[in-house]
Amino acid sequence: MGKALEQAAQGLGHTRPNPPVGCVIVKNNNIIAEGYHAFAGAPHAEASALSKLPTEEYVGSTLYVTLEPCSTTGRTPPCTEAILKAKPSRVVIAALDPNPKHAGKAIAILEAAGIEVSTGILEQEATAQLAPFFKWITTHRPFLTLKMAQSLDGAIADHAGQSKWITSHEARKDVRMLRARADAVLVGCNTACEDNPSLLRDNENGLNQPGYRIILDSCGRVPATAKCFTDGFANLTIYATSEHCPEEHRSKIAATGAAVWILPTEFPFSKQARPTLSLHALLAKAGELGLLHILCEGGSELASSLLNAKLVDELIIYIAPKILGATQKHTFGSIPFDLPTAPRFKICSTEQIGSDIKLILKPNDLI
Ligand SMILES: NC(=O)c1ccc[n+]([C@@H]2O[C@H](COP(=O)([O-])OP(=O)(O)OC[C@H]3O[C@@H](n4cnc5c(N)ncnc54)[C@H](OP(=O)(O)O)[C@@H]3O)[C@@H](O)[C@H]2O)c1
Repeated sequence: MGKALEQAAQGLGHTRPNPPVGCVIVKNNNIIAEGYHAFAGAPHAEASALSKLPTEEYVGSTLYVTLEPCSTTGRTPPCTEAILKAKPSRVVIAALDPNPKHAGKAIAILEAAGIEVSTGILEQEATAQLAPFFKWITTHRPFLTLKMAQSLDGAIADHAGQSKWITSHEARKDVRMLRARADAVLVGCNTACEDNPSLLRDNENGLNQPGYRIILDSCGRVPATAKCFTDGFANLTIYATSEHCPEEHRSKIAATGAAVWILPTEFPFSKQARPTLSLHALLAKAGELGLLHILCEGGSELASSLLNAKLVDELIIYIAPKILGATQKHTFGSIPFDLPTAPRFKICSTEQIGSDIKLILKPNDLI
C-alpha cells in the first residue's frame, strides 16, 4: 500500500475534480503492475494498472488501491467491472470513498463475486493524501493550505519592507513542491503589487492540468502589466475583484486572457472600517470550478483574514533562524486576537529544511 500511495502522489495537483489514486498489483510476492490516475478523463488507477498485462496474468493476484474503487460510470467505466474481469483473489483498500454515490458499493460488488476485500490498510496516510478531495466532495469547497515564511520573531518583512528572502533556498524549493501539489496558488493584492510574483509551478508547459494563480484585489490596484497577466499564462490567472474595481481596469485585465471574478465584499473584522472580498464566496466559486486544493502564499493581511474566518485547513510555517526586530509586517499582524480565544493548532510535524524549520499544523477545531 505504501507503493500504491507513491503511485498516487504522481497525480497530486493534476486530477481535479477527481482524487489522486494509486494502485499496485502483486502476484507470488512480486509487483506485476502499477498505475495511478493522471488527470480527469485518463484511466483510473486500477484501470491503468490492469491495462499493463494480458487479463489472465491478474488471476489470483492481490490488488492494492488507495481509495475504494468506483462502481458507477463517470468519464470512464466503473473500475469494479475491470477488477471483476481480471479476477484477482483479493482487493486491499486504504480509504473508503466518502462520496455517497460510491461509498461501500464496490466492497459489496467485489465480495459478491467471491473476491476477498480488506479495508483500512494505511488508512491514515491515504486519508491525509486524499484530504483535499474528501473536503471538496463533502463540502463543495477546496481544502485550503496556508503557507507563510517568517523570522524567529514572527516577521515576514524587515522594517524597510524587504522580504526577499527570509528563508533558505532549500525551504523555497520545498514551497515549489507544495505549489506543484495544489490546484491553485492564492495571494493578496499587496503581495501581487510589491513582489510581482509569477506563482507558476515548475514546468507549467505540457502538464495535463496546470495550476491556477488567484489574486484578490477588490479595487483594481494590481496593474494589467503584472507578471501573472503578461508571462504567457494569463489563462491560468483568476483575478478576483469587486464592483468597486473600475470597469476599465476589469476590461484591461480580461483582455490579457485572465478570468475576472466579481465577488461580494464584506466587513471581515469588527474593528475594520474597509470591506474586503468575501473569502466564502471565493471558495464557493473555486469549488464550482473543481479546484480541490488551494495554497495561499500570503501576505499577512490575507493570512489573518483566512484565520479569522476559520477557513484554514492546514497551516505550514517555515521559520528562519533570524531576528528582524521592529517591523510593520508580522505573519498574522492584521488582527489582534485575544489570548483566551486565539486560534489554536496542533503540531502535526516538524522538520529541518536547509537552515529552517518547517512546521505543519492543523487547526484545533478540525482535529
Ligand atoms: N513571508 C511570507 O511568507 C510572505 C508571503 C507573502 C507575502 N509576503 C510579504 O507580505 C507583504 C504583503 O502582505 P500584506 O499583508 O501587506 O498584504 P496581502 O495580504 O498580500 O494583501 C492584502 C490586500 O489584499 C486585498 N484583499 C482582498 N480581499 C481580502 C480579504 N478577504 N482579506 C484580506 N485581504 C484582502 C486587500 O486589498 P484591497 O482591499 O485593495 O482589495 C488587502 O489590503 C509583502 O511585503 C510581501 O513581500 C511575505
